[in-house]
Amino acid sequence: MLWVKSFHIVFVASWFAGLFYLPRIFVNLAMVPPQSVAERERLLLMARKLMRFTTILAVPALVLGLWLWLGYGIGRGPGNGWLHAKLLVVILALGYHHACGAMLRSFVRGDSRHSHVWYRWFNEVPVLLLLLAVILVVVKPF
Ligand code: HEM
Repeated sequence: MLWVKSFHIVFVASWFAGLFYLPRIFVNLAMVPPQSVAERERLLLMARKLMRFTTILAVPALVLGLWLWLGYGIGRGPGNGWLHAKLLVVILALGYHHACGAMLRSFVRGDSRHSHVWYRWFNEVPVLLLLLAVILVVVKPF
């Protein structure tokens, strides 16, 4: 079980590294002057590769978490509200991941609507999600 939990934490950290860095690229893309085509293409290439990588890393992070929950039975049964709240955080993280994909597609089409300031605030969301998930699973407050 400890091996599964170790790799769960490693893949969760890797998945979130991608969720932290992707919006950073969006901040830069939103600041690129229209005539800087080479810079825009370079940032788009980075974002596409990172999006693909982040999606691949999310799979083992989630599968190993499900294995801990459904396989080893951790968090099953009454008195484990922490896991239900954590699963809500996971669903929000998946929604955030999906939103990053939609934003990347809008940058590729050239019709992104948000300013670089908006993306800076958007970039803070995974920090809150990670904080919530770690407190819920380590402290188990309810
Ligand atoms: C389908 C999604 C997930 C499920 C079902 C899940 C389930 C679990 C379970 C059952 C444990 C073991 C808890 C224990 O031994 O006390 C665990 C550990 C952990 N999970 Fe997840 N998890 C999921 C996703 C995530 C995500 C998205 C994060 C972070 C953002 C995360 C962070 C952690 C951490 C840090 C631990 C280690 C806690 C410890 O050792 O005390 N998990 N997870």
